[in-house]
Amino acid sequence: MIRPAYSPPDLAARDWLAERMAEAGLTARFDAMGNLFGLAERPSLLLGSHSDTQPAGGWLDGALGVISALEVARVAREAGGPAISVVSFQDEEGRFGGTTGSAVWSGLLHLAEADLAEDMDGVTLAEARELLGNRVGGDVDTTQFSGFIELHIEQGPTLDMAGEQIGVVTDIVGIRDQVVTLTGQQNHAGTTPMALRRDAFQGLSAFSTRLNARLRNVVTPQSVWTIGHVAVAPNASSIVPGQVRFSMQWRDGDADRLERMQAVIETTLDEVAAEIGLRVEIGPLFGLDPVAMDPALRARLEAGAEAVAPGRWRRMPSGALHDATNVARLMPVAMLFVPSIGGISHAFEEDTDEADLVAGLRVLAQAAGVQG
Ligand code: GLV
Ligand code: MN
Ligand code: MN
Repeated sequence: MIRPAYSPPDLAARDWLAERMAEAGLTARFDAMGNLFGLAERPSLLLGSHSDTQPAGGWLDGALGVISALEVARVAREAGGPAISVVSFQDEEGRFGGTTGSAVWSGLLHLAEADLAEDMDGVTLAEARELLGNRVGGDVDTTQFSGFIELHIEQGPTLDMAGEQIGVVTDIVGIRDQVVTLTGQQNHAGTTPMALRRDAFQGLSAFSTRLNARLRNVVTPQSVWTIGHVAVAPNASSIVPGQVRFSMQWRDGDADRLERMQAVIETTLDEVAAEIGLRVEIGPLFGLDPVAMDPALRARLEAGAEAVAPGRWRRMPSGALHDATNVARLMPVAMLFVPSIGGISHAFEEDTDEADLVAGLRVLAQAAGVQG
């Protein structure tokens, strides 16, 4: 089932998880964002990920890391230690931006500022948070945790194509995301000569094609860019579109390259707008810089990977965004991946072989010092 942040299924899943945390002997606590923590005694190692999903996302993205964390914490408690806490961050998938819950918890983003963010339907985060009701139990002190490990599916093809079971993450790429609005002139689709049109959709189409060619001078094979959300107005077959609003997102492991890509995007937008007679508005920039994983925690994952999947693991960067990026502001952080079959994710077909899920869980447990 899909669970966009603060939707009834998301809140029901968090309530269910809070009960499982309590059963495992952890103290369940929602903070003001709806991040759900299962707290062990202090100090503890924090494990987890997120349990919200994309509007059309798969079953493992985020949920795998949360449920695995709960199982490792449960086993650790039965065994009398070590102290393991669990977290499910809220809105990792960005209904209100991106990794919003961990961004606020880590201090990157002030709650008052985050509250102003709107989803694609104009609902503010402040309005969505009201749905948390009396679940909220207060702040969760960030200093009680010695480190954070996140198990996640790879969401790309590398491990699956190589027939490997585990990826130990070296660093997480940086991301930039903005909403762009192109405004032309809405007009009659039968009577307006082509040469006189100021068609906003044609502007987007020309921009996208030209951008692909222009970015080639700046990028590496690891750089990516996506126009994933498009709203054409008024979206009717007999009207020349007067306005188009779209998301422009780009990602790369090098912060300088992200800036160079931004410059190319802005220049190309201005050029196309001037040619077609469009006005360009660029919304606030959402951005996270690339982050390296902690060498000591990473070494624990590498030792676990060699024990569980000898010769069938690799070190690799993460092209997807993760809460670990924000948590790295607070404490040592590391991540591991299991393969995604066919490299598919953010789609209902997303899946992982059961043997690989188990391997990931075992590496996580070993790195956390828990023998299952
Ligand atoms: C997170 O899901 C991302 O978009 O990388
Ligand atoms: Mn995820
Ligand atoms: Mn995701």
